[in-house]
Amino acid sequence: MSILVFGNGWIGNKFIERYPEARMSIVFAKSPQDIEQVLETEDPDVVLNCAGITGQPNVDWCETHQVETAVGNTMFPIMLAQACAERGIHLTHLGSGCIFYGDSPQPGGWREDDYPNPVAYYSKTKAAADMVLGSMPNVAVVRLRLPLDSTPSPKNSITKLVSYPKVIDVSNSATVIEDLLDVFYQVMEKRATGIFHAVNPQPLLYRDLMKWYEEIVDPNHKNEWITEEQLVAQGLAAKKRSTNILANLRLPEIGIHMRPTEEAVKATLRAYAEKLKATK
Ligand SMILES: NC(=O)c1ccc[n+]([C@@H]2O[C@H](COP(=O)([O-])OP(=O)(O)OC[C@H]3O[C@@H](n4cnc5c(N)ncnc54)[C@H](OP(=O)(O)O)[C@@H]3O)[C@@H](O)[C@H]2O)c1
Repeated sequence: MSILVFGNGWIGNKFIERYPEARMSIVFAKSPQDIEQVLETEDPDVVLNCAGITGQPNVDWCETHQVETAVGNTMFPIMLAQACAERGIHLTHLGSGCIFYGDSPQPGGWREDDYPNPVAYYSKTKAAADMVLGSMPNVAVVRLRLPLDSTPSPKNSITKLVSYPKVIDVSNSATVIEDLLDVFYQVMEKRATGIFHAVNPQPLLYRDLMKWYEEIVDPNHKNEWITEEQLVAQGLAAKKRSTNILANLRLPEIGIHMRPTEEAVKATLRAYAEKLKATK
């Protein structure tokens, strides 16, 4: 399977590290012509779209850079899906679980076909792309949420959460990156279509994550607990963050499974601790 990746950023490069046979497009595509040129030259069987505008240092940036965010997160994926459709290429697009806010309409979490209720501008642009791409015959939208990785990085939700002196006391769905990379590969292999929630099956309580971090990585780590409302009221974020539980229903239906959350997170923390030790 010849795989071409768009988006020379954090997750795109994680995928290439895991599957070195995949190729990275280094073109920053701005038009349908740019995309067609890349597809013509590379001639892939499948495309993985890890390109997107996530904001620097975080998604609050997107509130004040709405045009760039809309072009990168909504217009680019639609142009890419069109170009792939015209060439019979399967596209796997990275969506985000943060298009859902609060409690799901039914018990068990937000389902893949639930209607999104985004608040932040970043979330609106991601939701808009999903609405268009989610039923296209050549596209899989794989939504991830709270990515947890074994390598310390400002993009890694473990590194982010442990850097905050005040952490919101919530439970969220989470995606262990090692599992996610295999999900991408299997979705591409199966040429699966529609929307998928790539989250480890059980919700992650932030209190558990911090407890395991203290046990496995750093016994001296301490933080304060605050409510979601206090996060914005205390000026720690410009817009309310999406906190939600996603139901991972469609991946198991096509035979793709992610590890139980506690097992996957603890394994990730053990590898994280090793890597931290190696840098000291
Ligand atoms: N990381 C998360 O927490 C998270 C959670 C849920 C979903 N996602 C989604 O996962 C995807 C990847 O996220 P990430 O964390 O890897 O982001 P990232 O590190 O910011 O990487 C995204 C990359 O895409 C590039 N890009 C943007 N528009 C492009 C275009 N038109 N053509 C080619 N490249 C383009 C960016 O280039 P520049 O740097 O030059 O802009 C950047 O290198 C995004 O769609 C994001 O919405 C991420």
